Amino acid sequence: MAVERSELPYRLALPEPTETHEQDAEFCVIDTGGGWQEYRFHDYDALYRIPGLYEKLFYDILQCQSPPVVCDLLVEQLRAQQVDPSSLRVLDVGAGNGIVAEELRSRGVGKVVGVDIIPEARDAAERDRPGVYADYHVVDLTALDDEQAESIAAGGFDALTCVAALGFGDIPPAAFRAAFDMVAVDGFVAITLRDDFLSDGDTSGFSGLIGSQLDSGELEQLGSTVYRHRLATSRDPLLYRAVVARKRRPRG
Ligand SMILES: C[S@@+](CC[C@H](N)C(=O)[O-])C[C@H]1O[C@@H](n2cnc3c(N)ncnc32)[C@H](O)[C@@H]1O
Repeated sequence: MAVERSELPYRLALPEPTETHEQDAEFCVIDTGGGWQEYRFHDYDALYRIPGLYEKLFYDILQCQSPPVVCDLLVEQLRAQQVDPSSLRVLDVGAGNGIVAEELRSRGVGKVVGVDIIPEARDAAERDRPGVYADYHVVDLTALDDEQAESIAAGGFDALTCVAALGFGDIPPAAFRAAFDMVAVDGFVAITLRDDFLSDGDTSGFSGLIGSQLDSGELEQLGSTVYRHRLATSRDPLLYRAVVARKRRPRG
């Protein structure tokens, strides 16, 4: 374990770079005073409960770049399409503690509403970035009742963002589809996902879903870039693709 020295009120260590772990099994260990404890990277509830830990781990140490990369690509495409960012009403799915909303708002986006499956994400967003979300729904998008669906859709969204949250036991294709259906025709879609999720050999379901949306003309791709999402705990780069597209018509 490589121990990270910090001024923070805990000690944090990652596996040695010589160890490799699947992305959905990566972990660190943290000592908040009572001894070392293992935290899986997907234990978001536990990570969000410790202020600053998510940023320290993923941004300072593992150099995550996804929110600025996809937000820059979105704004570039808004400009090309002559759409004023301040007019945009964004549904941010898998919102976490609000880093994407902060990036969007700093680029002039008018309104962002968050959706996440765990209350700890909403609590952390309110604690760490108060005011960046106009509203924040804690729901499972695959199991919405009519009242929940109407309450979210009432936000009148003309854009959807989903950053570092598709696949890997996080947001499944059905949840992405439910969120996509809440965005107006001609709305913008800005997502990041692991580059191989869009390849022919993909088993996550996203290649099939997004491929069929592109093929059917439901989605028009405007821009795309492959970039380093972050480092793995092995310190190898994890390559993701950011895609910005426009929803051209409702589901056929
Ligand atoms: C890696 S974090 C990304 C957070 C944020 N988008 C960012 O870039 O900082 C993934 C987030 O997706 C959320 N998530 C996982 N499964 C979900 C689901 N089925 N529906 C909504 N959110 C989900 C997690 O709770 C977590 O907050």
